[in-house]
Amino acid sequence: MAFHRSLADNLGADYGRNQRIHRPLSNTQPAQQVKIVITGANGLVGKALSNALEAQHDVASFGHRDLDITDGNAVRCAFENAQPDVVINCAVVQVDACELDPKLAEAVNVAGPRNLALAAPRFVHFSTNYVFDGEQLDRPPYTISDEPRPINVYGRTKLQGEHAVIEVNPQFFIIRTAWVYGPGKPSFLAAVPANLREGKPVKAITDAYSTTTYVNDLVAQTIEIIEGAEYGLYHVANSGVSSYYDFALEAARLIGLPESEADRLIVKVTESEMNRPARRPRWTPLESTLKPMRLWKAALAEYIADEGFTEEGREEEKK
Ligand SMILES: NC(=O)c1ccc[n+]([C@@H]2O[C@H](COP(=O)([O-])OP(=O)(O)OC[C@H]3O[C@@H](n4cnc5c(N)ncnc54)[C@H](OP(=O)(O)O)[C@@H]3O)[C@@H](O)[C@H]2O)c1
Repeated sequence: MAFHRSLADNLGADYGRNQRIHRPLSNTQPAQQVKIVITGANGLVGKALSNALEAQHDVASFGHRDLDITDGNAVRCAFENAQPDVVINCAVVQVDACELDPKLAEAVNVAGPRNLALAAPRFVHFSTNYVFDGEQLDRPPYTISDEPRPINVYGRTKLQGEHAVIEVNPQFFIIRTAWVYGPGKPSFLAAVPANLREGKPVKAITDAYSTTTYVNDLVAQTIEIIEGAEYGLYHVANSGVSSYYDFALEAARLIGLPESEADRLIVKVTESEMNRPARRPRWTPLESTLKPMRLWKAALAEYIADEGFTEEGREEEKK
């Protein structure tokens, strides 16, 4: 437990009070381009960040095939060539894959960020709501002062990854986020509006709750943090708590599905009925650190509109 405590002590509410504010992507000098390397750049968050940053900065996006973050030599060589001012790591092994292959989880979620943080002048790294145990239902959303206590290999290795970064590079931003959805990754959250619209039944978990995060909101808030905030640990998620079932119901409402049709298509299941390799914490909402983010229903409405899943979108498609 001392391990976890020391992180909480280092990164509690007072963290950074006496630190110099650093602005790696400063908007105070609009003409100045910053050289940014993104690793794990073909994933959900990596792609969205690359797209958003490319307009303003010199971005080198490395997918898994371009750069394996577990290979320390390859990382050093890549950074010697690219000479980044900032490195943003979006590579990860996901929840069930970690449980099935803990060695791979350790390599990608712990050794990988350590390699990157060692070689990067400034380092931005993503972490997760699953560093918390989520055992106390209905407690307030977790803040950065709350003590992590992971219950699965993913959460454990992500927390160890945070520690590894902090140990080797003081110029870090660690951004914990939760239940991220957006285009390009067929996760439950991202796919539910399209599935419902196509009349496909979806299994929606009723007994796991968190804050969801539209990837565009995560990207905007990440950029704001690294442009103007102090180095340290941040939580970023849309406001308001939901279960997967609540999320599916709201998606159905937003796409204009009649209630009876929503009841027929949205099949309630419990987490244990899903029989997934990794246990999930049941209650892991995050409180955003920099400022409250917009409500999850507003973010979901925008995602649905952006992706053309609305009535109007349906009409457009018919043309
Ligand atoms: N998505 C969420 O709901 C969520 C929630 C909380 C926190 N986060 C955090 O957000 C960050 C980004 O997650 P994401 O959802 O964007 O993940 P993702 O869509 O699964 O993308 C991860 C990317 O990492 C790549 N990768 C895996 N091993 C690698 C290696 N050894 N070297 C280089 N790249 C490697 C993968 O490539 P291959 O597929 O080719 O292996 C994949 O493109 C992670 O830190 C995650 O913990 C995400």
